[in-house]
Amino acid sequence: MAEISDIDLTKTLSDAQFKAIKVNFDEHAVLLFRNQLIGDENQIAFTKLFGPIIKNTNYHRPGEILRISDNLSDVSNLDHNGKLLPPDSGRRLHSRANRLWHTDASFKHIPARCSILTAHEVPPLGGNTAFADMRAAYDALADQQKVELEGLTAWHSIFHSREKMGYTDYNQAARDEVPPAQQVLVRTNPVTGRKSLYLASHISSIDGMTDDAAQELVDALIAHATQPQFVYEHEWRVGDLIVWDNRYTMHRAMGHDDMNHRRDMRRSTVSDEINSIDLQKRLIIELDKGKPHGYSTN
Ligand code: OGA
Ligand code: MN
Repeated sequence: MAEISDIDLTKTLSDAQFKAIKVNFDEHAVLLFRNQLIGDENQIAFTKLFGPIIKNTNYHRPGEILRISDNLSDVSNLDHNGKLLPPDSGRRLHSRANRLWHTDASFKHIPARCSILTAHEVPPLGGNTAFADMRAAYDALADQQKVELEGLTAWHSIFHSREKMGYTDYNQAARDEVPPAQQVLVRTNPVTGRKSLYLASHISSIDGMTDDAAQELVDALIAHATQPQFVYEHEWRVGDLIVWDNRYTMHRAMGHDDMNHRRDMRRSTVSDEINSIDLQKRLIIELDKGKPHGYSTN
């Protein structure tokens, strides 16, 4: 994690300013900007500098009246009138899975590149977000395990992480809209060649393994990757903005007394441009041609 200061994200950034941010983003994977009392439109404009926005899809809550723009995901516990969501609200139950370690939108064929979360109201206690560095976690694996993981591919489903939290109330249309997506288990950064674990509680199976064995492996890898030395836990203040790289980190909400205390957080999400398996294949072709890394995907 790195903090970037002396920048006002309500203003249009120069190319040089954004380039400097991008260099830090590529290196640190989690960037904190404080005191950014920015509106939704500023957040959307800043997000678009990183790439195309993944709009909030309403597949799991048909007919819900949105509180904020559908360019943002409403990560709050508030309804469209600004009142606390009732205990049985679908959005509340759906969002509980944010408490499991995950990376955003890995359940989409083309997953998320990065996400940006802004804090508008924070609870008096708790409500932190934790981030785990999956590059450092990969580096710390035993050599034998690195060999065993090489080439494995996993299936990610948003409904799997929801089921883990005991919530399965999705109709067939919703399930058909977000079919499981296949991703590598170990990513290679195409520019630096550095490897990282690509894990999430969305993983329901691994090709060539029984579901039980796959779940055991995923649980063990997540336990390894989220040891304190790989984790940064952020205590939010109003006006904080964090951008994280979903390709090389996992994150989770730490929870708070969300039946009684308001928490207004708004997330924007940027799409990557390629599925992780397709990226890996492209990289292998480039390496065969004697071009070790050095072409950029973003
Ligand atoms: C998210 C998310 C964590 C939090 O918005 O993608 O996982 O602490 N949020 O709200
Ligand atoms: Mn998330």
